[in-house]
Amino acid sequence: MIDILPIRTQTTTASRLSQVNLSQLEFGKVFSDHMFVVDFINGEWQEPQIVPYGDMAVSPANSALHYGQAIFEGMKAYHQADGSVSLFRPLDNWARFNASAERMCMPTVPEELFMQGLRELIKLDTPWVPTDAGSALYIRPFMFGTDGLLGVRPSDTYRFMIITCPVGLYFSKPLRVRFEQKYVRSAEGGAGYAKNAGNYGAAMYPTKVAQNEGYNQLIWTDASQHQYVEESGTMNAIFVIDGKVVTPALSTSILDGITRRSVLELARDMGLTVEERKVGSREVMDALAAGKLEEAFGVGTAATIAPIATIGYEGHDYDLPTTGPTAFSKRVAAALDAIRTGEGADVHNWMVRV
Ligand code: COI
Repeated sequence: MIDILPIRTQTTTASRLSQVNLSQLEFGKVFSDHMFVVDFINGEWQEPQIVPYGDMAVSPANSALHYGQAIFEGMKAYHQADGSVSLFRPLDNWARFNASAERMCMPTVPEELFMQGLRELIKLDTPWVPTDAGSALYIRPFMFGTDGLLGVRPSDTYRFMIITCPVGLYFSKPLRVRFEQKYVRSAEGGAGYAKNAGNYGAAMYPTKVAQNEGYNQLIWTDASQHQYVEESGTMNAIFVIDGKVVTPALSTSILDGITRRSVLELARDMGLTVEERKVGSREVMDALAAGKLEEAFGVGTAATIAPIATIGYEGHDYDLPTTGPTAFSKRVAAALDAIRTGEGADVHNWMVRV
């Protein structure tokens, strides 16, 4: 247990909530009234604060802007029937945040600071947690180097912050994706497993190329041979092949997704066989041709479960079979929803009340 100073809170005098339609939200565009901020200076976390959401001053020479020393998390809080709010697996996000911090030479954030910041911020902004089915409060913890120094070395000072935004569905319809066989998201030994800002920035150009060709997202393949599935867009990729739930095994180039982990645990609970292993793009396409590819979908915090309708491969598009209500992706999405809203039994104790 480390000593965390109490959080100094300055509440807004002009809430923006009444100007927002919580039933019509573009992802990541509307932010709740407050944000959490704490600086790391002289090797110590300083007094944490909650302040009105807004712009802030930073050094134009900070290491995040120049060298990408910046990491983040994505997590969600859900409205419960009794009016309370619960977080989904927040300690998993905390652990992954610190794994990313270590990879990027940044200080780790103590559990108490992370959890206390989250709790107090969300308690204060509880009216911003949307109540519509499928909606949630998306939570974005992040940290960046704050030294004003162009030397290429880890910053000595950092800022850890949490901002939140009410969100609805991320994708409105099943996705058209294509295997990427030119660009790579990450290579073995790189930082693909970390949630550092640069992984996302570098993925924008290949994604834009695919979008210009009419796809929503890419299926990234491995850096050395472009043969094995890595991730799908900003999500992990899962396939149902011949009744088995199949997904790429984790590696240094794949993000250890918390939705991925949860979906695999629920699949095992349902008695399904789960295989975490290398998944070849050829294997996926052969399974589709043989009628054995039952489902393909992306999983992530923002998107939750995003079914794939069409896969582009070597210049041709192939449609997947349409899925009915008994499809694994539908059942697992319903099971996750039930746990998150408190309507289903939380047998794994994933939910943490704010
Ligand atoms: C998430 O699912 O939380 C992500 O990180 C994806 C994206 C919004 C960056």
